[in-house]
Amino acid sequence: MAEVLELTGLGDVGAGTAAEVLERGGLLLFPKLPFALEPGEAGLIDAAVLSGKSKNISLDPATGAVGGSNLEGERLAAMSAMVARFSARADEILAALTPGYGPHLQKRRTSFRPGAIETRALSPRKDDKRLHVDAFPANPVQGRRILRVFANANPHGEARLWNVGDEGFELFAERFRGKLKARAAGAWRERLGLTKGRRTAYDSVMLQLHDAAKFDDAWQKEAPRTALSFPPGSSWVVYTDSVLHAAMAGQHALEQTYLMPIAGMTEARRSPLRILERLTGRPLL
Ligand code: SIN
Ligand code: FE
Repeated sequence: MAEVLELTGLGDVGAGTAAEVLERGGLLLFPKLPFALEPGEAGLIDAAVLSGKSKNISLDPATGAVGGSNLEGERLAAMSAMVARFSARADEILAALTPGYGPHLQKRRTSFRPGAIETRALSPRKDDKRLHVDAFPANPVQGRRILRVFANANPHGEARLWNVGDEGFELFAERFRGKLKARAAGAWRERLGLTKGRRTAYDSVMLQLHDAAKFDDAWQKEAPRTALSFPPGSSWVVYTDSVLHAAMAGQHALEQTYLMPIAGMTEARRSPLRILERLTGRPLL
């Protein structure tokens, strides 16, 4: 079973414990740690804020630009402020939980996810209702971990429902090992502007794992999993590059992504990079 450490508040866990649980493939769950909306923000919690093309509103920390919405003027500024506030809140959450990560964490996009998961019809590759580990096609992580902080801001009492795989990353990767090719042919993608930075052999293997899992109908049916419910007002933290997850239902989550160099981990040998290097018998960076 996936390890879920339920916590009552940010001071509820001893130094080092949170990082250990996360690195072992566990989730930290705060059933009552809401992302509080400010007066005037309730109107932003609405799928109608999305531009036709996007499934998320996203804030790029490098530019401060907010994409994915059809908002303008004051409402755009309000959206931008709300997402930026969640981003700062996620920083506080990790500063309290994993202080040792502080100097290592690299902040990436913040997202607001106002679309309903269960009504989306998507190709298997894009369908996050299928169990998967996260891997970024256009933004290579080059061995760094993907750490995410989520909050459910649903105003209608609806929980966000996930399934989490009971198998750890190592067993999962072993299962699909026969399908993996450790190739690093990413230079041309970078030159053509298809990726931001070089797609390394590690990125390539992680994308192959993501796709192999999502396209394997039999495995999708059989893989042992645990259903988790994240009620409105809850927050949770997880390494989504190693924990098998599927988002089954829900609407109106906020999410902050960080990249974490494995040198900052308590136990780098538990990283997908090191596990995959052991499994494939070759360096992947
Ligand atoms: C995912 O990373 O698969 C989606 C998570 C979510 O939006 O709840
Ligand atoms: Fe995912």
